[in-house]
Amino acid sequence: MAPKVILTGFMATGKSTVARHLARRLQWRLIDCDADISARAGKPIHQIFRDRGEAHFRSMERSVIAEIATDRRRCAQCGNPRPAVIATGGGAIADPKNYAALRDCGVIVCLSARPDVIAQRISSGVKARPMLSHGSMPVKQRIAELMEKRREAYARATFTIDTSERTVDQVVDAILEALADAYPAISHPPIHVPHNPHRSCK
Ligand code: S3P
Repeated sequence: MAPKVILTGFMATGKSTVARHLARRLQWRLIDCDADISARAGKPIHQIFRDRGEAHFRSMERSVIAEIATDRRRCAQCGNPRPAVIATGGGAIADPKNYAALRDCGVIVCLSARPDVIAQRISSGVKARPMLSHGSMPVKQRIAELMEKRREAYARATFTIDTSERTVDQVVDAILEALADAYPAISHPPIHVPHNPHRSCK
């Protein structure tokens, strides 16, 4: 199957932004699970939570991940399998079915950040993070609680990159370095060849 890099990690660790930059650097296709879910529902994620609840969102998330993980379509232009960078929502990997599907389709990379950094990053947009508005619980306490609950799930990633003190480009560099060390077969040639044969596969 074509190489796939899957980004997981807590909210506000930079998954979507890093995935976009990483996909551009590799000239691989970009898939953002939350964007797909949102497009299917025709509304932003926080409105799915508000209108249909978390269970409905999780069921959409499972369907989207199952489809992505089993996608074996080839590029219409070059005929090669399509390599991809996949950003997942922060809670996706905590579901054993999602984890198994993602593990079988690519390399799972976890992005992390210190709780204080996460609190700072989301300070202006808590309303768009339904998992963090939990009754009257202060956001920092909720972050700590949820992080602890998901600690084991995130630890199943092949490697983890701390984004607390890194720029987006530094995170991308760290991922490429780790991929090259851990998976030369995946990272080469796509990472190092200037004219990527999969360029048309986006
Ligand atoms: C969630 C994280 C969100 C989104 C949804 C649930 C979670 O994605 O999938 O609000 O459970 O952690 P980001 O991690 O991209 O914010």
